[in-house]
Amino acid sequence: MTTAEIKAMATENIMNTYGERSLAFVRGEGAYLWDADGKKYLDFLGGLAVNGLGHCHPNVVAAVREQAGKLLHVSNLYYIEPQAELAKLLIDNCDLDKCFFCNSGAEANEAGIKLARKFTRDQGREAYEIITMDNSFHGRTMATITATAQPKYHKGFEPMVPGFTYVPYDDLPAVEAAISEKTCGILVETIQSEGGVNTPSTGYIQGLRDLCDEHSLVLILDEVQTAMGRLGPLFGYQSYGIIPDIITMAKSLGGGTPIGAMLAKEEVAASFVPGTHAATFGGNPLVTAAACATVKTILDEKLGENAVEVGDYLETKLLALKDRYPIKEVRGKGLLRGVVLSVDANALAAKCIENGLITICTNDYVLRFLPPLNITTAHVDEAISIVEKSLAETV
Ligand SMILES: Cc1ncc(COP(=O)(O)O)c(C=O)c1O
Repeated sequence: MTTAEIKAMATENIMNTYGERSLAFVRGEGAYLWDADGKKYLDFLGGLAVNGLGHCHPNVVAAVREQAGKLLHVSNLYYIEPQAELAKLLIDNCDLDKCFFCNSGAEANEAGIKLARKFTRDQGREAYEIITMDNSFHGRTMATITATAQPKYHKGFEPMVPGFTYVPYDDLPAVEAAISEKTCGILVETIQSEGGVNTPSTGYIQGLRDLCDEHSLVLILDEVQTAMGRLGPLFGYQSYGIIPDIITMAKSLGGGTPIGAMLAKEEVAASFVPGTHAATFGGNPLVTAAACATVKTILDEKLGENAVEVGDYLETKLLALKDRYPIKEVRGKGLLRGVVLSVDANALAAKCIENGLITICTNDYVLRFLPPLNITTAHVDEAISIVEKSLAETV
């Protein structure tokens, strides 16, 4: 089918939650995508942080092919070999002790919110409130849009779920002031990606850990975008020198297959007992086989280190454009980067796509990059020349 034919069929039959789209991709390889009309693009969005290994990585493709021929699904009424292997792989590479598998980032956060409340009740405290941050993004279920402190995501869906309190991001005194006898936890992103690539000051995440310790609160880090090496270490928290009680992840974990996970410290995880939480598809054989291949590849090929090296190169190249174009700053870490413009960045993002670079505008002024972790400096040079051409044509 051509792009026009796909678009017509989709528009007629799919709910309009994503608006009008101009592209339909039909093939991907590494950092490149091809649309239905045969045009090639450099992908610096990576399926919104999902394609950490790029498109159709041979290790993931081989794992999916092999598992698809053996066993696709059986349910969590039974032990699942690749699920057990994935859990061991994750636990062996972090400071948490137990995994719960689900299908998405929102579900991972739901699981984290439920576990924080249950654990707190099990400690004999009738506290249920969770503090979250302005401009956060935690998902689209009722609890996770409530946790997402952005009114535009609440509008039309009220009443919201009780038990969430909002404070500004990167503001420790505001968190301290919001803590009450009803508070059971803090839910925060290690970098706010959807909110504009807002990167916390040194000491912020450590300060949250201290507040949680002082007030017996559960620290939940939403690592849906930052886990799996995007900031350098396999998990984002590992660059902040603390250990959270719960971390949530999804996106790059499955190498392009839909999987989420919530990891917790042993004593917190013990509050989930049979009957308290479940997901039919959670950690099924297909997605956990793909995720095992993904995580092993990230570790074996030291892609976190590459993300830091190439990410710093990307930052340098973007900063070099600052003299000639209305660029205010470059934010982020590793291969989660945002260029903040002093003019609206929506037209620039559209122009980049027209010129063959897939990227996205976040919060109107931020051009955001989430490329695969295995890109090289040559990919960055190619992206920068498209960004520069697009800047020259739009601003
Ligand atoms: C930080 C963060 N948390 C949660 C989510 C929700 O993930 P999902 O769309 O897989 O439910 C997202 C999605 O962009 C995210 O960026």
